Amino acid sequence: MPEAILKIEGLSKSFEGSQVFNDVNFAIPEGELSSIIGPNGAGKTTLFNLITGYHVPDKGKILFRGTNIAGMQPFHIVGLGIARAFQRTNIFPRMTVLENVLTTVISARKGNLSLFAPFRNHDKDHERAYEILENVGLADMASRESGTLAHGNQKRLDIAVALALEPKMLLLDEPTAGMSPEERWHTVELVKGLWEKLKITMLFIEHDMDIVFGISQKVRVLCYKTILAEGTPKEISSNQQVIEAYLGEEV
Ligand SMILES: Nc1ncnc2c1ncn2[C@@H]1O[C@H](COP(=O)(O)OP(=O)(O)OP(=O)(O)O)[C@@H](O)[C@H]1O
Ligand SMILES: [Mg+2]
Repeated sequence: MPEAILKIEGLSKSFEGSQVFNDVNFAIPEGELSSIIGPNGAGKTTLFNLITGYHVPDKGKILFRGTNIAGMQPFHIVGLGIARAFQRTNIFPRMTVLENVLTTVISARKGNLSLFAPFRNHDKDHERAYEILENVGLADMASRESGTLAHGNQKRLDIAVALALEPKMLLLDEPTAGMSPEERWHTVELVKGLWEKLKITMLFIEHDMDIVFGISQKVRVLCYKTILAEGTPKEISSNQQVIEAYLGEEV
């Protein structure tokens, strides 16, 4: 069993007296491609916000490669190796596709993640930015203004920007949201292909059970303020508690 890259211990979080998590515990092995599922409002995005430093937990530890990152600043956590693509895309629409990736490559190299780091054209940075665009299938759109891309391609760019941070672990919050069925499967294939090629740990939130069960090595179900179940797609899709609490007639 590979060592855990991320270990969550006794995590609790409330907003204005309303508890989202109570004593959540789980561990993600290095290199895993896994998903988090659960009803609307179960706290999936909140979990990502806690892992990436956008929220501070009330209690508990978030151990990333042994370091407790709970409550650290987001830029610090990015520097340690966790990047995130957002439920809504996070790109600068007036910049070109290449510029969006290049600015992040440059800031990541300088350890200056303000995203407004001085814009200099080093050959190596350029090469790296192109390589990332090739990995996500956007190299031939490098000079396009980002805001003019189709939704599916904006999502690819968002993932490219996250990859430019050179993460060890990538979090994807509903990467296929708002896409046509065809775009969805292209995005799923992209995610799977990136995982196979780059060998980074990936954790994604997704509502489409065909996608979840189709590509996850492991599925964790967030429900009733805790991890209700974790297991392989086969185990989760036949778990009676999960079916009653969440999957219902979907399976
Ligand atoms: N910043 C915040 N302030 C107050 N309440 C919040 C905040 N962020 C999330 N919540 C609440 O926490 C709960 C979990 O929300 P969250 O967005 O994490 O759910 P989710 O599982 O991602 O849902 P969805 O599937 O709809 O994206 C909800 O009740 C939400 O209203
Ligand atoms: Mg959410």
